[in-house]
Amino acid sequence: EKGGHEYFMLKEIEEQPEALANSLRGHFSGGRVVLDEQRISDQDLRDIDKVFVIACGSAYHSGLVAKYAIEHWCRLPVEVELASEFRYRDPVLDRDTLVVAVSQSGETMDTLEAVRHAREQKARVLAVCNTNGAQIPRESDAVLYTHAGPEIGVASTKAFLAQIAANYLVGLALAQARGTKYPDEVGREFAELEAMPKAVEQVLSTVGQVRELGARLADSKAVLFLGRHVGYPVALEGALKLKELAYMHAEGFAAGELKHGPIALIEKDLPVVVVMPSPRGRAVLHAKLVSNISEIQARGARTVVIAEEGDETVRPFADELIEVPAVSTLLQPLVSTVPLQVLAAEIARTRGYDVDKPRNLAKSVTVE
Ligand code: F6R
Repeated sequence: EKGGHEYFMLKEIEEQPEALANSLRGHFSGGRVVLDEQRISDQDLRDIDKVFVIACGSAYHSGLVAKYAIEHWCRLPVEVELASEFRYRDPVLDRDTLVVAVSQSGETMDTLEAVRHAREQKARVLAVCNTNGAQIPRESDAVLYTHAGPEIGVASTKAFLAQIAANYLVGLALAQARGTKYPDEVGREFAELEAMPKAVEQVLSTVGQVRELGARLADSKAVLFLGRHVGYPVALEGALKLKELAYMHAEGFAAGELKHGPIALIEKDLPVVVVMPSPRGRAVLHAKLVSNISEIQARGARTVVIAEEGDETVRPFADELIEVPAVSTLLQPLVSTVPLQVLAAEIARTRGYDVDKPRNLAKSVTVE
């Protein structure tokens, strides 16, 4: 049942701390990150020289986030690709390629066909999946299960956060296999991940504020989302949620691209959601985004800023300010995504739509 909530999606948004905690539990033991199933030898894992993450929709966005962490930790090139594009363009794959297939349902046909193509080319496939015994993990060489629990809302929320955490565990497992991180560093990263359920719990205290904002933005024609670094995939995810739930035109952009085109879209009263990086972690990017927001505001747009608590520099430029707790840069998507989920759901509800069952969409897409 909806546990006293108006719609399942809100219940599932509030279950995110638990979804994260459950997805991390048991994956660090004896000083090492452990997967659920591993039919690849440690030696073969060590020899991996390239990573592809393949997925669709929100799962694809979780892969875009992971690229930043895996490249940084493992010094391996990571390409993130839509599963539906991957196998139709003759990707370069061999025994030393790791293909990470991310799928909540584990039954998405585009992703499954991409997995089959990768295995035919002798690549190693690791599945990140929320559904025990689904087809994608059954056809993979290694599996890491997320434990978000069953997701009823068609739009992914808790499974998405769990996918980000699981993708990070894949990165840590690779870093430990390759020796690009010392065991104690892997342990420290894992401990930081373990602190995230608490941080997400803290963001949930903004749900009331964000719902109220959603109700006020519900008659907008369009909404733009901007971010940089790991905030860029968060912007894409925020836009996808709004499209699928509120049937509203929404676009996510890398903020640095603004001046190369999208700034022409800025007009009076257009809501623009900006995902700020931490002023401590990425000071240079932070300064650039502050300047973006001031430009947007000067053109009359309505700025909705997601920023780290205590970030005073953004205040003058934020028509609406939503504060998230301070966490390290790579983990920021786990907190900054949450208000965007609530915003999309609440705009949809205010417009009178069924938040849990958006039109034309199915929970698992088993056709190509
Ligand atoms: C968006 C959403 C979809 C799924 C996508 C992949 O809210 O839920 O974009 O993320 O269809 O589904 P899975 O993860 O089951 O492969």
